[in-house]
Amino acid sequence: MKLCVIGATGGTGIEFIKLALERGHTVTALVRDGKHLPAPLVRAQVVNGDALDPKPVSLAVQGCDAVVCALGARLGQPPGTTRSGGTQVLVDAMRRSGAKRLIAVSAVGATGSRANQSLASRWILPMLIGKPRLVEVDLQEDIVARSNLDWTLVRAPRLVDGAASGQVRAEVGLATNMSSQLRRADLAAFLLDEAERPKFVRLTPTVVSLKS
Ligand SMILES: NC(=O)c1ccc[n+]([C@@H]2O[C@H](COP(=O)([O-])OP(=O)(O)OC[C@H]3O[C@@H](n4cnc5c(N)ncnc54)[C@H](OP(=O)(O)O)[C@@H]3O)[C@@H](O)[C@H]2O)c1
Repeated sequence: MKLCVIGATGGTGIEFIKLALERGHTVTALVRDGKHLPAPLVRAQVVNGDALDPKPVSLAVQGCDAVVCALGARLGQPPGTTRSGGTQVLVDAMRRSGAKRLIAVSAVGATGSRANQSLASRWILPMLIGKPRLVEVDLQEDIVARSNLDWTLVRAPRLVDGAASGQVRAEVGLATNMSSQLRRADLAAFLLDEAERPKFVRLTPTVVSLKS
């Protein structure tokens, strides 16, 4: 498949590219600073540019069978409006190019996931990560859900590094609590599986690791 990834230089993006190349796919990565892409991933085709700039984003999604969005302000940085703004630019670019399949990483804490969060998580999470970040997640979900694309919004709990465990649970409405977490490598595998064999089209699965 010809795959495109936005947010390619983040922890999840890098794991996704690594796995997609291993499985023999062609990957186009939108990258604003090439230094953030590890050398072994040079086989990916790189489009240089910012996610808020329609030109490089249009170029990156051209001819893609599926687009993965793992875009976000890095933790510790102010959330700004990159997530929502970049998602809108991406959806518009996909509409123009005719690309239909979008798999976007969202987060537990989105309004739609609150009913399935434990009481503690519902109260503590906004304090830990800040309400503006969750507002951005809601805006992104709204933009994606209102698009005419074949979308999947993957709600991730706290992301951690480490080798893929291959042991995840993915369900719409999955209950989460303060200890829920997901390895980025497992998230990347879920995103790629979903690109190859769509199971959650126009759905919002929550994915958690079964192993800490
Ligand atoms: N961290 C968590 O615990 C957690 C929990 C739930 C959901 N999530 C979400 O899961 C996804 C992946 O998270 P992660 O921690 O693996 O990612 P990350 O390491 O925070 O990486 C974010 C990516 O977005 C890119 N980016 C930010 N602004 C951009 C812009 N204006 N133009 C182009 N690229 C831009 C960054 O590029 P640069 O390298 O150029 O900065 C980087 O590639 C994100 O959507 C995140 O919000 C995270």
